[in-house]
Amino acid sequence: MAKGKKSLEQQNSGKTEQFSSTGFILAAIGSSVGLGNMWKFPYVTGQNGGGAFFLLFVLCLIIVGLPVLLGELAIGRAGRGDAYTSFKKLGGSKWWGWLGFIGILAAFLIMTFYSTIAGWTLHYAVQSLSGNLFSNGDYAGQFTAFTASTSPIIWQIVVMVMTGFVIARGISSGIEKFNKIVIPGLLVILLIMLARTLTLDGAAEGVRYFLYPDFSQITFESALLALGLAFFSLSLGMGAMLTYGAYVDKNQSLPAATLAVGAGDLIYALIAGLIIFPTTFTFGIEPGSGPGLVFVALPAAFESMPYGNLFGGLFFILLAIAAVTSCLALTEVPVAYMMRRFKMSRSKATIWIMIAMYAIALPCTLSAGGVLSGYTWGGRTFFDWMDYITQNIMLPLVGLLVTILVGYVWKGSGEETGLSPTWMKWWRFSMRVVAPILILFIFLSSIGLV
Ligand code: PHE
Repeated sequence: MAKGKKSLEQQNSGKTEQFSSTGFILAAIGSSVGLGNMWKFPYVTGQNGGGAFFLLFVLCLIIVGLPVLLGELAIGRAGRGDAYTSFKKLGGSKWWGWLGFIGILAAFLIMTFYSTIAGWTLHYAVQSLSGNLFSNGDYAGQFTAFTASTSPIIWQIVVMVMTGFVIARGISSGIEKFNKIVIPGLLVILLIMLARTLTLDGAAEGVRYFLYPDFSQITFESALLALGLAFFSLSLGMGAMLTYGAYVDKNQSLPAATLAVGAGDLIYALIAGLIIFPTTFTFGIEPGSGPGLVFVALPAAFESMPYGNLFGGLFFILLAIAAVTSCLALTEVPVAYMMRRFKMSRSKATIWIMIAMYAIALPCTLSAGGVLSGYTWGGRTFFDWMDYITQNIMLPLVGLLVTILVGYVWKGSGEETGLSPTWMKWWRFSMRVVAPILILFIFLSSIGLV
C-alpha cells in the first residue's frame, strides 16, 4: 500500500504518527491554552463579577473538566482513531460513530471563527512592533476601524496557512515540534509581562477584583458560563483531546497527563487574568468591556512601558502562537477523519479541510465588525451563531456523550485510564452522575429549556 494510503490506525504503528511522552503533554497543553484562556476568559470574568467567577471556573475545571478530559484521552487511546472511529469501536455500533462525528463537525466549525480572532492577534503584533498601534491612543477606535477593514481577511488566511503547513508535516515533526518550541516560550513571555503589570499603580485593585470572590455575584447563569468556558478551555467536547489521545502509547500515564493539562490550562488563565486586570484598573478601562478587552486594554499598558512596542509585539505574537497551537488541535480532528474515511494522504486531507473551512471562515471574519456585521438573525451575526452553536450546543452534547460512553457503555474504560481503585470509583461516579447532570443543565439552559 502506498504511504499516503495508510489508514490512521496503520500510521499510528509507524514512528512518525506517534507523540513522544513530553511531546504529547506539551501538544495537549498547547491545545488547551489559547484564546479561551487569554482572550475569552479575562473578558467573561470581567463581565461576571471577577473573583467569584474565577472560583466557579476553577471548580468546574476540577469537578467536571478533568474527569471528562481523562475520559476523552482514554477513548482516544483505546479507540486509536479519529472521533468517529473511536466512538464507533468503543460504543459498539455505527450510531455511536455518528455521534462522535458531531465532535468532528464542532472542531471544524470552531476553527472558522477561532481563526478570525487568531488573525486579529497577528495584526496587533505587527502594529505594535512597528509602533503604529501607539500613534493616537484611541485603542477602541483603532479596534473598530481594523475589524471593519479588509486586513482581518488577510490575517486569517495567514493563520490558516500556518496551521495547514504544520498539520501537513505530521504528528511528531509538525504538531509536536511546534508545541515544544512555543509552549515554554509563551510561559517566559507571560512571566515577563506579569512582572510588568504587577508593578502598575492599579495592580492591587486589579488582583483583588480578579481573585477576591464576592459570593453575591454568583448566579446560576454565571455557573453555566463557567462550566462552558472550562470545557472550551480544556478543548473538550469536540474530539480534540480524543484525537490527540490516539497518538499516545500505552506507557503514558493518562491521569498524569490529565493533571498536567489541567494545571497548565489553569496557570495560563491565571497569568492572563493577572496581566489584564491590573492593567484595566490602572488605565481606567471597564473590566466588563467585552470581547475587545485584550485588544483595547493592553495596548494602553504597553504604551506606558519602556520598549512597550517590543513587549506588545512579543505579547501579541505569542498570543497568536498560542492560538495557532489550538488551531492545530482543531484542524487535526477533521484531518484525521478525512485521512481514514477517504484513505487520503495527510497533505491532501489538510488541503481539502482548509479549503472547506475557509468557505465558512470568511463570512465569520466579515461578520465580526466587517461588511456582514449588519446582517443578524435572532440578534446574532454569522460569527456569533458559529460561536453560539458550537459552544452552547455541540460542545455540551458531545461532552455528555463522552460521559455516557465511558460511564455506561464501554465497560473497559476504567482500566484504560490506569487509575487506582479508589480514584477510579470517584471517576466513575463523576462520569455516571455528576458530570452528566451538570452538563445536561448547561445544555438545557443554553437552548432555553431551564
Ligand atoms: N482550548 C482552546 C482555548 O482555550 C480552544 C480549543 C478548543 C482548542 C477545542 C482546540 C480544541 O482557546
